[in-house]
Amino acid sequence: MKNPDGTRMSADEWDEVTFPRPTVQEFDHVVERAISRRGFLGVLAIGSGAAVMGTTFFKGIEAYAQQVSRFAFEGIEAQTDGTVHVPEGYDWQTLVRWGDPLFSDAAEFDHATGGSVEDSDRVFGENTDGMELFNIGGHEVLVVNSEYTNNDINLPHTANGTPESAEDVLKLQNLQGISVMEIVEGEGGWSVVVDSPFNRRITFNTPMMIEGPAAGHDLMKTEADPTGTMSLGTFNNCGSGKTPWGTYLTCEENFNGYFGATDGLSTDPVVAAGYRRYGLSEAGFGYNFHPFDARFDLSANPNEPHRAGFVVEIDPSNPDSTPVKRTALGRFKHENAATVVAPDGRVVVYMGDDERGEFVYKWVSRDIYVPGGDTSTLLSEGMLYVAKFNDDMTGSWIALTPETTGMSAAEIAIFTRTAASAVGATTMDRPEWVAVNPVSIEAYCCLTNNSNRGVMNAEGVVRTNAGGDPMTVNGVNPREMNNYGQIVRWRPADGDHATDTFEWDLYVTAGNPTVAEGEYAGSSNINAGNMFNSPDAVVIDSTGVVWIQTDGADSNEGEYAGMGNNQMLAGDPVTGEIRRFLTGPNGCEVTGLCWSSDRRTMFVGIQHPGAPFPDGEGLLPRSCIVAVKRNDGAMVG
Ligand code: FEO
Ligand code: CA
Ligand code: CA
Repeated sequence: MKNPDGTRMSADEWDEVTFPRPTVQEFDHVVERAISRRGFLGVLAIGSGAAVMGTTFFKGIEAYAQQVSRFAFEGIEAQTDGTVHVPEGYDWQTLVRWGDPLFSDAAEFDHATGGSVEDSDRVFGENTDGMELFNIGGHEVLVVNSEYTNNDINLPHTANGTPESAEDVLKLQNLQGISVMEIVEGEGGWSVVVDSPFNRRITFNTPMMIEGPAAGHDLMKTEADPTGTMSLGTFNNCGSGKTPWGTYLTCEENFNGYFGATDGLSTDPVVAAGYRRYGLSEAGFGYNFHPFDARFDLSANPNEPHRAGFVVEIDPSNPDSTPVKRTALGRFKHENAATVVAPDGRVVVYMGDDERGEFVYKWVSRDIYVPGGDTSTLLSEGMLYVAKFNDDMTGSWIALTPETTGMSAAEIAIFTRTAASAVGATTMDRPEWVAVNPVSIEAYCCLTNNSNRGVMNAEGVVRTNAGGDPMTVNGVNPREMNNYGQIVRWRPADGDHATDTFEWDLYVTAGNPTVAEGEYAGSSNINAGNMFNSPDAVVIDSTGVVWIQTDGADSNEGEYAGMGNNQMLAGDPVTGEIRRFLTGPNGCEVTGLCWSSDRRTMFVGIQHPGAPFPDGEGLLPRSCIVAVKRNDGAMVG
């Protein structure tokens, strides 16, 4: 699907266009909005350094202007062209492109067709997204999500990329999922080790286990799997995570769009309510899988979507391992999964649910992580929490239990959004990636944008999420019609990510100081030289630099004038300084970031370029990963 200006939509945009969310009509919400508006005025001062809580946590940005920069590079200018730019003193090269063979029995990419169906699960997938690097016995193994496909390119014989056969569907399915591949640096730079024993594709059709509280529940059972414990495949894999024990976490995001119905939707009230909350419909995103693959036909298999929307754990060291859907971590539109070990050894996983007005979550394991010990069930048992951000810049994690939600443990795992609504979680401006700072006890979350924040419907009632929770303006989501986004960070009480209270501030409020004043100009660490919109991925490197990747409007016009193409910026968490480090080709989203084991190369994902990147004029644009190095070979993170 394309934007009105002809550029391709990201999967997130797709979902928003396809499923405009309902509104509620209750007078209380109007009152609540007015109250929240007063709260918001206080928070706006954060950018200029108000020390609201009297702690030292937020003093850093206040001192921003006086600090000497920690960055050794000059921030680059915004760009509007069709290639990648990095600062002087750095270089980039392409590591791998959609369709490049991972195995020697696959043909080189065919620009006319996007490749054959036979090769489609033997090549690097399309639309690269979250990725992590693992050093396994001295081998550099990169694990990468492929979020979705551009169907019109892959099915050139069809009208608008609408599948006409099971074979068409299979090709699209195979080009999504996960690519596991060994990479190596040689004289000519980085490349894929074709036929490495580590290489593997995980797709819609890879068998995987379902475990945790939802496993075996009646809502998880299908005709093909009457036990509700085995699923085929994972899809719409967005952001990623990496556990301390060396496994990869892939996050199922806009899973709803793949389903359709040949003969109406279930009238079971529980199932129907779940469909409404998660955006399942008869038409889906129009992918048209369901006439050819009954798994995606809601009329035939009403429970199948209950088996998607999870975090899936993959062991990249064993290509024969069975991926595991970890239902304890909840079912929603998972963006990524940021893990950290608490002082007592319990594992904490932070997660965002990327939809307007949905929530930020935290999960804490019951058992502790023991290096070298058995980790096979560490992500099975624990407590799921949802965030409540108070306007006074404190917050709490509310446990989702049968007592707090009125739902069983299995129901909480399957209808997590409903459980979170029941406890009064804070509706957010589309939570995307969360990152944990390895050198300071704090976490960051991108709130990418929310054009409906604080917006009234025709009846004068503020819009809601699909659960009816109002998207009133509040402290952490302080702007009406928030097209620019912000990054919130929190510091847990007692220096312990497992505790249930925290303090928060806004690390940056994106904006455009060249065309707007006040709140839409952005926070004080935004200027004409570093402005951007729609922060999406955030990753913090081993030195504590906050890397921000964007998935926003790149028209470079109107309210976005001067921001240029989507980009990656580097932020100093102490001073608040932000510098633009990389710009992508026009039409792209920049998403996915990790480093080689020696920290001398950074790998950056370029998703859905609009320009013919990286192969040049006359050839297809191809999502790809670029490797960025300093010319002097020094470390880059
Ligand atoms: Fe797949 Fe919300 O980004
Ligand atoms: Ca994203
Ligand atoms: Ca996004």
